[in-house]
Amino acid sequence: MSKKKKKKEQLENQDIPAGFLEGYRMMWPFIRKYFWYAILGVLLTIPVGTLDALIALFLKPFMDNVMVEKQQDFASSVPLIIVGFVVIQGIFIYTSTLVNSYVGGKINLDIRLKLFAKLMNQDCRFYDTNDTGAVIYRFYKDAETATSGLVDNFKLFLTKFFSSVSLVFVLIYNSWQLSFAAIGILLFLILPLKIVRKRVKAIMNKTVAENALLLTVYNETAAGNRIIRSYTLEEITMNRFRASARYLFGMGIKMVRDTNWLSPMMHVVSAVGVAVVIWYGGHLIVTQQITSGTFVSFIAALIMLYTPLKSIGNNYIQVQQAVLAIGRIYQKLEEKTDTEASLERERRGELKELKGLESTIEFRNVDFSYDGSRKVLEDISFTVKKGEKLALVGNSGGGKTTVCSLIPRLYEITGGSILIDGEDIRNLTLKSLRSCIAVVFQDNFLFSGTIRDNIMMGNYGATEEELRSACSSACLDEFLASRPEGLDTPIGERGIQLSGGQKQRIAIARAFLKNAPIVILDEATSALDNRSEKVVQEALDNLMKNKTVLVIAHRLSTIIDSDSIMVINDGHIVERGTHQDLLAKKGAYEALYRSQFRKD
Ligand SMILES: Nc1ncnc2c1ncn2[C@@H]1O[C@H](COP(=O)(O)OP(=O)(O)O)[C@@H](O)[C@H]1O
Ligand SMILES: [Mg+2]
Repeated sequence: MSKKKKKKEQLENQDIPAGFLEGYRMMWPFIRKYFWYAILGVLLTIPVGTLDALIALFLKPFMDNVMVEKQQDFASSVPLIIVGFVVIQGIFIYTSTLVNSYVGGKINLDIRLKLFAKLMNQDCRFYDTNDTGAVIYRFYKDAETATSGLVDNFKLFLTKFFSSVSLVFVLIYNSWQLSFAAIGILLFLILPLKIVRKRVKAIMNKTVAENALLLTVYNETAAGNRIIRSYTLEEITMNRFRASARYLFGMGIKMVRDTNWLSPMMHVVSAVGVAVVIWYGGHLIVTQQITSGTFVSFIAALIMLYTPLKSIGNNYIQVQQAVLAIGRIYQKLEEKTDTEASLERERRGELKELKGLESTIEFRNVDFSYDGSRKVLEDISFTVKKGEKLALVGNSGGGKTTVCSLIPRLYEITGGSILIDGEDIRNLTLKSLRSCIAVVFQDNFLFSGTIRDNIMMGNYGATEEELRSACSSACLDEFLASRPEGLDTPIGERGIQLSGGQKQRIAIARAFLKNAPIVILDEATSALDNRSEKVVQEALDNLMKNKTVLVIAHRLSTIIDSDSIMVINDGHIVERGTHQDLLAKKGAYEALYRSQFRKD
């Protein structure tokens, strides 16, 4: 079996409970809070049906009193009573809809909030391995499917359940032998229900993966639109989309073909049930074991019992889908991420707050792997003293970025320890640790909004004065002055309306405002042309003043004056020293330097 197929199969066989009751069990924590509201909603709907019957009931005295006995006052009061009843009925319908929508909406809201909070606590690894489509599907769409399927049907099932129970009592009261036959017939439905459940599950699992893919294509079409234009990938993208959309269409049809015979099947089984009762009941009447009154009452109750069963066929499929969705949600909520484990330790008071940097950042025999098998870093040990500037250089893919991402604990190390002021960073709260580190990457994410919004993210408590000073230090003054709206210029999604250098300086201003004692610069100028690189370098030099710095630079000229330079090749520290030391050593650094020197 091919690897891809295997992965797909694994995905499809994820063990998600598909039982109806399990669905409600998993949903229960969300329903519990509003249970009495839900019951109220159900109770409010009961009189609605009864009032219908009352109106029908009025037909009899109307017939008798007016049509036959010709009583005028009765004739004039009946219309008023009917209108009165309909008004009351309207109030009930309105209130019950309101209550039910409140319950459904609240449960949906709670699930959404809980899922989004969960999303906030996912580790970087999660985002490395899940594409946007999967994230949106599992964190947004599933919540919709689960609530619409389970909550909307909750009322239906509850009312049907209560009426079924009472009807079954009526049946047994009338004749236990007939009840035995009539209810026994229903056992024939167990197998079809099981089959349908299995099929819904299989098809749903396939469509979840494909739906996620479809959403990813949407996202990539928006985010990658420039590449799509430049490489004329419209047709290929269209084909990719078409393939997914058609597959989903096929699955939709397959779902109907493979499962929607359930409804007619219900009809047939209930018809057989009625037939058996008539046949067997006839026999019982003839042999005088029951009266004909009993028989009529029995048949009436039986038909009332079977009616909802017939319509339940369709709801059953919807509910199955909802159960699978809540199953996936449940699974997601049960998973414990590293971030949550840390937050839990924080709540138990096991973690310390990092107030600032007093003495050192130390890596002690650090091993790291992204996937648990291939080691990306091995036995990395080094120390940076407060106020020092350490430069990381080395081959591409050697592990420099990885070293930097381990300090704010974006990933958990697999061996050794990282210490700040002698304290293992795993014993520090994530929030305090991360608030002590300002990072500037090669490509910084800017959020849609204005320049001001994006810079203020560095520190929401900053004053206008501090904001201005951060902008000056980030060499933004000239640029801001050139825009009529200045700081309030909108920048478009991901800062699309800005040049690379402008984006970079906004990111630097954001880091400035954060004013963290540790600064990490990861190839912060490498995406820029020479001219904007100079300006950005100036901004970076300002940012590094009086800070403890780890800098990864693609251009060695910018790091010559570092206190120390460390060469990392293929996950190992090859050498470390000052620029002069390393040149004299004539090792890896010297070779790197000479190759770049020649180029420049
Ligand atoms: N998020 C990730 N998931 C899995 N592997 C990764 C990830 N990021 C980087 N790698 C791998 O780790 C190695 C080191 O990468 P990186 O630290 O980015 O190198 P450098 O910054 O020195 O160029 C590379 O082999 C790269 O393929
Ligand atoms: Mg890198």
